[in-house]
Amino acid sequence: MKRALVTGVTGQDGYYLSKLLLSKGYEVYGLVRGQNNPKIEFLHEHLPEVKILTGDLLDVSSLMRALAASKPDEVYNLGAISFVAYSWENAFLTSDVTGKGVLNILEAVRLYAGDKPDSVRFYQASSSEMFGKVQHVPQSESTLLWPRSPYGVAKVFGHYITINYRESYGMHASSGILFNHESPMRGPEFVTRKISLAVAKIAAGQQDRISLGNIEAKRDWGFAGDYVDAMWRMLQQDEADDYVVSTNETHSVREYLEIAFNRVGITDWEKHVYQDPQFFRPAEVDLLIGDASKAQAKLGWKREVDFPSLVTMMVDADVERVANNLV
Ligand code: NAP
Ligand code: GDD
Repeated sequence: MKRALVTGVTGQDGYYLSKLLLSKGYEVYGLVRGQNNPKIEFLHEHLPEVKILTGDLLDVSSLMRALAASKPDEVYNLGAISFVAYSWENAFLTSDVTGKGVLNILEAVRLYAGDKPDSVRFYQASSSEMFGKVQHVPQSESTLLWPRSPYGVAKVFGHYITINYRESYGMHASSGILFNHESPMRGPEFVTRKISLAVAKIAAGQQDRISLGNIEAKRDWGFAGDYVDAMWRMLQQDEADDYVVSTNETHSVREYLEIAFNRVGITDWEKHVYQDPQFFRPAEVDLLIGDASKAQAKLGWKREVDFPSLVTMMVDADVERVANNLV
């Protein structure tokens, strides 16, 4: 039985990745931060087989302890401050957790692995946000990085320090440059879930409008369940490497809104949408569209869920939650 240690296990990807690894027969250890994290209850209820270890990416000794306790074959570093808008208001914290936190866990793995540096396979959750002010369309592994947010800058550090540990110490450290991926488990601060939740409440007569920022922004949106499979595939390769994971399509927030409102029978949706300056960003990433041909060719990965199905899945899940008073 293989063992995996997952940081960020209480997040969206932590949920789908843990489910995938458990279905493959892994013993899964999840790192949870804080002294009484309320999300532990969710894990006990929905992923009872995951063994919880406490620790924080800011505390190297806690990472060393988690490695000693889990003795992992694979480490998936999903933990991060991940909300881009928040990263301007908390730039130091974001740099520490999302940037330096990667160094902390890489160093902990290196020390733990001792004279067999490639005995623990390592996955780093890099991001299409690193492309920022895009220098090439579509974006691939070789596209110049030009981050536009403190979060993006921190992810660039995490990306290059992962490559550096691979090249310096021979670690099996791979970096997945994942484009936006969503699901009914997405946090409500992200635009897709903010919209699906509002649409469900508007359809139920519980709310009249939604305030948003830039609805012309374009993203390459996929389904989180498909993307965690790419993470796992990266760590099954003989050689560690970096891969873009994307759908190779781009859609605007406006298109997402249209499909979401249509799903609940609202066609004159624009009257429910207000633009509020507080949701515009100091520097925007206007367009993301990935080229995942390397992941498709080398990992045999492909996405299963297309954009309209993703929107529909998220709206339907929130309609059901609203009907059952769960949100
Ligand atoms: P998420 O839902 O925001 O989850 C982030 C996780 O990081 C949570 O479990 C959070 O714990 C944990 N965390 C925060 N600070 C930590 C710390 N100091 N020490 C340890 N853990 C900490 O994010 P996600 O969507 O699942 O994304 C997973 C990873 O992929 C992140 O690194 C994200 O930046 C990256 N990524 C995501 C996307 C996407 O579209 N979803 C795309 C590219 C890259 P709490 O629950 O306790 O807050
Ligand atoms: N959150 C949010 N809220 N975004 C809005 C809103 C709003 O009210 N209105 C418009 N947007 C626009 C944002 O300006 C951005 O252009 C786009 O919607 C997507 O925003 P988010 O859903 O917050 O995601 P993100 O693209 O900034 O970041 C996500 O994807 C990255 C990968 O590219 C996060 O998951 C990051 O962690 C991830 O790395």
